[in-house]
Amino acid sequence: MKEEVLSVLKSNPGVYISGQSLCEKLNVSRTAIWKYINALKEDGYEIESASKKGYRLVSSPDLLTGDEVIPFLDTKCIGRNYFHFDSLESTNTKAKELASKPGLDGAVVVSEEQTTGKGRLGRNWVSPKHRGIWMSIILKPDIEPSSVPKIVHIAAAAVVLAMQELGIKASVKWPNDIILNGKKVCGILTEMSGEINHIDFVVVGIGINANLGQEDIPQEIAEKASSLYVETGSAVDRKCLAAKVLNHFETLYLDFLKTGTIDASVKICRDNSILLGRDIRIIARSKERKARAVDISIDGELIVQLEDGRIEPISSGEVSVRALNGYI
Ligand code: BTN
Repeated sequence: MKEEVLSVLKSNPGVYISGQSLCEKLNVSRTAIWKYINALKEDGYEIESASKKGYRLVSSPDLLTGDEVIPFLDTKCIGRNYFHFDSLESTNTKAKELASKPGLDGAVVVSEEQTTGKGRLGRNWVSPKHRGIWMSIILKPDIEPSSVPKIVHIAAAAVVLAMQELGIKASVKWPNDIILNGKKVCGILTEMSGEINHIDFVVVGIGINANLGQEDIPQEIAEKASSLYVETGSAVDRKCLAAKVLNHFETLYLDFLKTGTIDASVKICRDNSILLGRDIRIIARSKERKARAVDISIDGELIVQLEDGRIEPISSGEVSVRALNGYI
């Protein structure tokens, strides 16, 4: 009911709504309305009350609750089940717990902070409160387990497009890092549960360093990692960015399910790649090779030219890739 009160206030921006009309619209008592208004104030909504006029929404808190994000979604499936937490160890861990329940294909788990956020290769992911977008998408696609790595390219493309819509020209460092001004501002961690020929679920974890200040970024990673705020000098609207990522993700993901290809996502990753044309180091099982990144295949492999001239496709998952110069 609190959500309904909020929805009425939101759909009348800047306008006083009388207590009486709220009671009538929502079929509850005046005391109940008063309680919901107070609960909303406690959640951080600034609501003015004036006698004989009623209630007026002045501002909304910077939170990634369903009330704040869902109005920006234009999806059919992704984010239609939406779980918001104030604090979690990791949204991926929570998503994996939830994923075995029925009906949660496309569900999104978001937390304002993660106490033990997970990065790739067992690293931790710094996730301070209210500063970033820490979210995981639960998917139950009817595809071959071997196709799951393709979903990373869909997620990377969705993040880049969403940032572009906010005027931020970030790049993809194949396969799952998003880079701005040479520093990582977003990482993607895809996890899967299933058998050799069957997927139970996939969890796509997306961590966007949106409004972290320099002080939020630990010294030991400050040369490589940054935030949109630090790099652009302006705070981003987290709810808007989160919704845009989910909107683009759904479009690209549904295209993948329909066509069986990730052509659209690969094109976006190619057009915005920071690696293509660069000399790189490919690190696999502590073995390192030098090569030049020349293309991304339609299946999302990185095509490299080795020092002896041979062309080789590299699959994500197998390797870690570093540009030879700089921190990328
Ligand atoms: C990487 O190492 O680049 C991947 C980082 C992924 C971080 C995100 S934040 C939301 C989700 N929950 C986690 O614990 N990790 C992912």
